[in-house]
Amino acid sequence: MSDKKLAIVILAAGQGTRMKSRLPKLLHPIAGAPMLSHVLATAQALDAEHVVTVVRHERDRIAEVVQNELPTSLIVDQDEIPGTGRAVEQAVDALPGDFDGDVLVVNGDVPLLDAGTLSQLIGKHRSAQAAATLLSAILDDATGYGRVIREKDGSLDRIIEQKDASAAELSVTEINAGVYVFTAAPLRRELPKLTTDNAQAEKYITDVIGALKASGQLISAVPVAEPWVAEGVNDRVQLSAAAARLNALIISGWQREGVTVQDPSSTWIDIKATLAPDVTIKPGTQILGSTTVASGAEVGPDTTLVDCEIGEDAVVKRTDATLAVIGAGASVGPFAYLRPNTVLDARGKIGTFVETKNSHIGAESKVPHLSYVGDATVGEGANIGAGTIFANYDGVNKHSSTIGSHVRTGSHNVFVAPITIGDGAYTGAGTVVRKDVPAGALAINVAPQRNMDGWVETNRPDTAAAHAAAAAAETEE
Ligand code: UD1
Ligand code: CA
Repeated sequence: MSDKKLAIVILAAGQGTRMKSRLPKLLHPIAGAPMLSHVLATAQALDAEHVVTVVRHERDRIAEVVQNELPTSLIVDQDEIPGTGRAVEQAVDALPGDFDGDVLVVNGDVPLLDAGTLSQLIGKHRSAQAAATLLSAILDDATGYGRVIREKDGSLDRIIEQKDASAAELSVTEINAGVYVFTAAPLRRELPKLTTDNAQAEKYITDVIGALKASGQLISAVPVAEPWVAEGVNDRVQLSAAAARLNALIISGWQREGVTVQDPSSTWIDIKATLAPDVTIKPGTQILGSTTVASGAEVGPDTTLVDCEIGEDAVVKRTDATLAVIGAGASVGPFAYLRPNTVLDARGKIGTFVETKNSHIGAESKVPHLSYVGDATVGEGANIGAGTIFANYDGVNKHSSTIGSHVRTGSHNVFVAPITIGDGAYTGAGTVVRKDVPAGALAINVAPQRNMDGWVETNRPDTAAAHAAAAAAETEE
């Protein structure tokens, strides 16, 4: 929808004191993206002629998000006069003087708001030819919100803030969502008249509503169908509630696209993740960042993937992985830790208690048990023995190792990087590989084993071991 008679004002200058946080409130993440970026994405979907975002508190950090997510938005700095009314006043001043369309004002802390709800609100405003139309919601607990005060005939009278409300007004459960459509001309007339004569000594945008009514203009409040759409985030209780709600929406969206999510209540999927049909997500799993999961893959239980790429039919169990690429039909876990720049090609395996980092493991190659693989390249069809360590760090620098295709390394090896093991080579159990191994060679460097007969009987007489050894000697005789 392209709407060239619409300006959107996003209010993002407030401090968010109720979060008690070093991080500005609007940068607290929900579904893997700052709260504010959800509002910016919704604004972008409306394709308005002008978007203005008002900033002040931590202005550089907020402005950076705005510039990244919605570069067409103008950024306006709010001055020292506090309040949402002042923020809108300065935003409207930044619009071209001849702009005569509608001004949609949205609080930056209403992250669940969707473009459909806003389009409907704008539609209602226009068809009624109102001066102002606001979004309201009926909440079980209206504490903290501005209340919608209606006349006996049900028409909108004004908004009263929680801190300015009488006991009777506080009992009203219809709240102001902080989302308004104003016709530009009457808004321009009223904004300069706002005062700070209230409990918070701020200019309230909500006072414009009552003022328009008093001057005989048409105003109305439209309740949302689903109250949670309008829920604002002021503290961390509301933050987790909004995050859980958005997560539930994201999960049901993927379920409808053909993804099996066995336990939505213990599954978290970020907004930027993408999942193909016939993916199965098992309980306790987090699909975070820009992770993509291809068709037929099984992820979980108890798995966290951050910015990973999971191939078709891959199986990833009880794994923690960041920036890893898992090929089709590959298998990972249980209990694997994949650090950034791990690439496992098709049908490969990173098994139980294996940590990998900055390593490329080729197709059908396996690191099945108890190993650390760092700064390594492993060819195709190789098998790395149980309990192998790629010693990539000499205490000062990191070095890399190259293992060829179809190599078989024994259990409990150490590969002291930099080393290269040629295609098809073998290493014996317990080998500490310090020199390159040519293709097709067997490398062994463990000391020959020496058995000292009778050592237990001499040195540990009368122990269970000595008795067992004696009994074994008897049966042999
Ligand atoms: C506001 C409304 C209240 C409504 C609620 C909905 C006012 C006076 N009250 O209250 O009626 O029920 O939202 O969630 O508007 N901001 C600025 N500049 C400022 C102050 C705030 O840009 O000087 C921004 C904030 O960053 C925030 C938004 O405006 O994104 C709302 O501010 P907040 O302080 O959270 O208002 P509420 O008390 O929630
Ligand atoms: Ca708020």
